Amino acid sequence: MLYEEAINLIKNSKTLVAFTGAGISAESGIPTFRGKNGIWSKYDPQILDIDYFKNYPKESWEKIKEIFYDYMRDVKPNDAHKFLAFLEDKDILKATITQNIDGLHQAAGSKNVIEFHGTTKSVVCLGCRKRYPSNDINLSDLPPICPKCGSVLKPDFVFFKEPIPSDAYRQSYEYMQKADLLLIIGTTGEIMPASEFPYICKGKVIEINPESSKYTETKTDIFLHEYAGIASKKLWEYF
Ligand code: APR
Ligand code: ZN
Repeated sequence: MLYEEAINLIKNSKTLVAFTGAGISAESGIPTFRGKNGIWSKYDPQILDIDYFKNYPKESWEKIKEIFYDYMRDVKPNDAHKFLAFLEDKDILKATITQNIDGLHQAAGSKNVIEFHGTTKSVVCLGCRKRYPSNDINLSDLPPICPKCGSVLKPDFVFFKEPIPSDAYRQSYEYMQKADLLLIIGTTGEIMPASEFPYICKGKVIEINPESSKYTETKTDIFLHEYAGIASKKLWEYF
């Protein structure tokens, strides 16, 4: 019943927007941040604190490389990422706002992806602000140094106490205002300011998560209590 209701909303929506968190990539083998075996149960979040990074770039990079580069190198999009790319291709889904930095939405074929927390796919120079593809940087010698000005290169994702990229912030705000249907997938809804954005949306909300989140009781209209990949496959069968 819930799946039929969800499909009806999706098929009749004018502006469907997706809002995703770490949970959508869990079935691709990427650990989430919170919950059992979460990244923060093994690593100290301070490695992603911008002041710590600036003071201890080598130590910070060593852990960051382990978690976000070595581990993520060969991960692939799962059915949930592919389903969102399918919905975008059908011009049903207008935008995917993601808190994730793994690039898996784009790898699945999604075009209009707003990376609220930036990405691991590039690094940025703390000195001259030049960006380089992460694949072009030699991470065997840490911290990586800017070939242009000699300053330290930082992963191009948002560290704690750093601002959200202004374009991503503005576009997310605009899409949340326009959305008549919001698909929230795999997020606890705990981390500001990202977690506030779904509340901007005046439309209906479908949430996919195997556990309840901050949104389930306050914002969600249809709660698909399921893993993202499995729920996506079930929804896809209606097309
Ligand atoms: N399918 C769908 N959801 C899942 C799955 C799955 N297979 N597995 C886990 N989840 C859900 C969990 O129930 C939880 O609600 O994914 C969510 C993961 O929560 P977090 O680890 O807190 O991830 P997220 O909400 O994206 O964190 C937000 O916090 O540390 C910062 O910048 C980091 O972007 C991150 C932000
Ligand atoms: Zn530089």
